[in-house]
Order: sequence, then C-alpha cells, then structure tokens
Amino acid sequence: MKTYNIAALAGDGIGPEVMREAIKVLRATEKKFDFKLEIAAAPVGWAGIDAAGKALPDATLALCKKSDAILFGSVGLPDRDPTIPKEERPERAALLRLRKEFGLFANLRPVVLQNELAHTCPLTKERQGNGIDILVVRELTGGMYFGQPKKTEDIGNGQQRAIDTMVYTTQEIERIAHVAFKAAALKDSKAPGIRTGKVTSIDKANVLENGVLWREVVTRVGKDYPDVTLEHMFVDNAAMQLMLRPTQFDVMLCENMFGDILSDEAAALGGSLGMLPSASLGATSGEITFGLYEPAGGTAPDIAGKNLANPIAQILSAAMMLLHSFNDYRAHNAIFEAVQKVIKQGNRTGDIFSAGESGARKVGTCEMGDAIAAAVSNC
Ligand code: IPM
Ligand code: MG
Repeated sequence: MKTYNIAALAGDGIGPEVMREAIKVLRATEKKFDFKLEIAAAPVGWAGIDAAGKALPDATLALCKKSDAILFGSVGLPDRDPTIPKEERPERAALLRLRKEFGLFANLRPVVLQNELAHTCPLTKERQGNGIDILVVRELTGGMYFGQPKKTEDIGNGQQRAIDTMVYTTQEIERIAHVAFKAAALKDSKAPGIRTGKVTSIDKANVLENGVLWREVVTRVGKDYPDVTLEHMFVDNAAMQLMLRPTQFDVMLCENMFGDILSDEAAALGGSLGMLPSASLGATSGEITFGLYEPAGGTAPDIAGKNLANPIAQILSAAMMLLHSFNDYRAHNAIFEAVQKVIKQGNRTGDIFSAGESGARKVGTCEMGDAIAAAVSNC
C-alpha cells in the first residue's frame, strides 16, 4: 500500500480549526481507499513566531522538504505586533517564501456555484445562467509580488517613495499558459468543474509592457492547443464581466496580482470565500512535482476559535492534494461528492446560511467536518 507524507501547517486564525476538519475527512478517505497518510503537524505564521521566533521555522521548512505535499491553513493576523518588520511577517516570510522556495508557480482556484447555494451568490438568477463554474489559473511566483527592486526609500523633505516592480519573462508566461490551456482542454470532469475548452487571458496590454508580452506569449502558446478557444480581456473589463456575465468564463488565466484580486471576486460568486480551495503547483519539464494546498481565504480572526468557520475550502484543498499530488481521482471525487451531498442535505455554516432557506440547518465548523467525513465513509 502506498504511503503519502503530508506536512500539515495549520497556521493562524481559523487555520487550526479548519485543518482539524480536513484531517478528519482525510482519515475517513484513508479508511475507504488504498493508501496510508502520514500527517505531521508543524507551526507556521504567528504560530511559528510564537513557537520558534520565525514565521517559517527551520524545522517546519525541513518537514516540508521531506514531505510529499503541504496542506496549508492560513497565516497572518494584521493586528498582531506591528513592531515586527514587514519582511518577517507571516505573509511574506512564510507563505510567499514557501511559494518561492518550492517553485509553486501555478495556482489553481476552482470556483463552482452549487445549485443549492444559488441564493448565496450576489448575482441575480438570470446572471447565474446555467451555473457558475470557473477555474482561475493564477501565476504565483512572478509579477509584482516578487519583482525587484521592491523597497520604500526616503526622498527628502519628509517624503518617501515606495517601489514595487512588475516583471515577467517569456518562460514564466509560457509555463503558466501551458497549465491553463491543459486545464481547459481537460473536458472529462474528473477534476472539479466541467471545462468547456476556453481560456480567457487577462492582462492590461493597453498600458503595461508586461501586458503586451503576456498577450504575445499566451497567443503563441495557444497555437499548440487548437481545440481550446482563446480570448484576451483587459483586467478592468474582466472585473466587470465577472459581475455581468460570469458564465462566459471557463478558465481565467491571470498574472499574480490580477489573479489575487479576481479570484476573490470570483469566489464571492461561488457563495463564499469559505468554499474556495486552491492548489499551488510546481513542475519540472511539464510534470507536476510538488504541491501546496490551501484555502484561498484568509485567517478570519473575527470568527477564529468560535466553531463558526466554513471548513469546506480546507477540505476541498485536501481533495485537490489527493488529485494533483497523489493522482487519486477516486479519493478526490469521494470528497468532492461528499461536500455536494452535505450541502444538498441542508448543512450550512454561517457564511452560506440564509434564514429564509427551507431545509437549511446552521451548523458549526466541527459538525460540517463530521457530516462530510460521514458522507465519505458511506460513499
Ligand atoms: C492569497 C492571499 C495571499 C496572496 C496573501 C495572504 C499574501 O491573499 O493567497 O490569495 O496575496 O497571495
Ligand atoms: Mg488573495
């Protein structure tokens, strides 16, 4: 029997409680399918700073390096200790560092609005059409997040100047474009969502040099995928089109920053950020070699520790791990279908609950995890 080693980095805020539910569901999956999971926990984020003085403690990084995949919770508590320099704070020192360290350039964020949750989507029924099903493919290790120079400097007269630099090379654009086209070409619905064979590439080619290069390179890569339709769209228009006619999108291909923004916007269409999982993948010669899996939402400190958080994004992130890192469609689908089932049964955490909905039952983080684990066991 295969054994998979997983580094579980729960982090801060709601991280630990949603991680607990994901592990519960993974354990149920392990009983059902033919693999063994070695899950080792390690501190990260403020939990890392508290435990070992660093947002990404050396021992945590060492654990990640010897694991087959990283299941990540969330990090960052904006109101904690403003004296810690920004470079050492969890977002940059842990999350961005891990993305860079492991070369996780491809971030997949599948937004699916389940029928039963149509009422949680902020758009009218007409605008939801036959359902919203979008895969955001976000470049994750380039662009303004990492470009140099990146600094704030004094320029005299009590003035400062902040500089971030947007940089992309041909090769960085090519490899993420291939990920998007391959995803769009995958028409069998093994992975979450049903792809319809279209890539909308997002840029700002009317203003940015990066946008011009992005468009050129994506167009060239697209020629390798004659079955996939390619469309280009300016990012400002894309933000609007998501609100007006989201059903036109299948795969949205974005650079780092645009993908960050548009994936939150798209997540709202899926009912809640608490429903949006993600996979951050690294590849050598086209093959996925390593992945970090995390919910796209944040630490939600306002509801942390209260059994209120929606664990589904974390649970679906664990399912994406089974698919992308361990190539196990069956186990992945079992979790995906279990989530759909418990939603159908009316289980709702606060973020997807609305009082008027008949048959809906408000549940806590823990009960939601129990229900999904039970549905996996009974599948
Ligand atoms: C995300 C988050 C991160 C990002 C933050 C926490 C650094 O918003 O994964 O979308 O900006 O990439
Ligand atoms: Mg974000």
